Amino acid sequence: MTSLRSCFFLASLALPLSTALAAPPAGRLLAAQCAQCHGTGGQSASGIDSLAGESASELYSEMLEMKYSQDTGDIMHRQARGYTEEQIRLIANYYATLNGGGSGDGGSGGGSKSGDD
Ligand code: HEC
Repeated sequence: MTSLRSCFFLASLALPLSTALAAPPAGRLLAAQCAQCHGTGGQSASGIDSLAGESASELYSEMLEMKYSQDTGDIMHRQARGYTEEQIRLIANYYATLNGGGSGDGGSGGGSKSGDD
């Protein structure tokens, strides 16, 4: 009985460790949450603004403004509140590395694990 239980315990410890090792850069991982509304890679296909190519400082200050605003009704204010300032910085830095708008050269080129965080 006991050994079976400790086996489960060990298995549950090993799982988060292995997913952490396989994880992509933190900024991209966090930014994946924004994609459902702002589009994959920050290129919005809906009416919502694209985020790709905006400067990191602009995104960062916009997010902080929304995070600390008294306005509670707006969907983005609730999104922004869910992240720490450090996470917002990572997200902003990630979007700033993407090509915004224009047809550009093969914007989807991602996949590379650039070590900059
Ligand atoms: C549930 C949908 C949704 C999600 C998820 C979401 N947003 Fe938004 N966001 C919006 C809407 C709606 C607006 C207002 C859009 C507009 O005016 O075009 C907005 C506006 C913004 C703006 C200000 C407009 C601009 O272009 O500068 C920023 C910055 C922003 N979002 C960043 C983010 C980031 C970063 C994330 C992920 C952490 C995120 N959003 C996740 C819906 C969403």
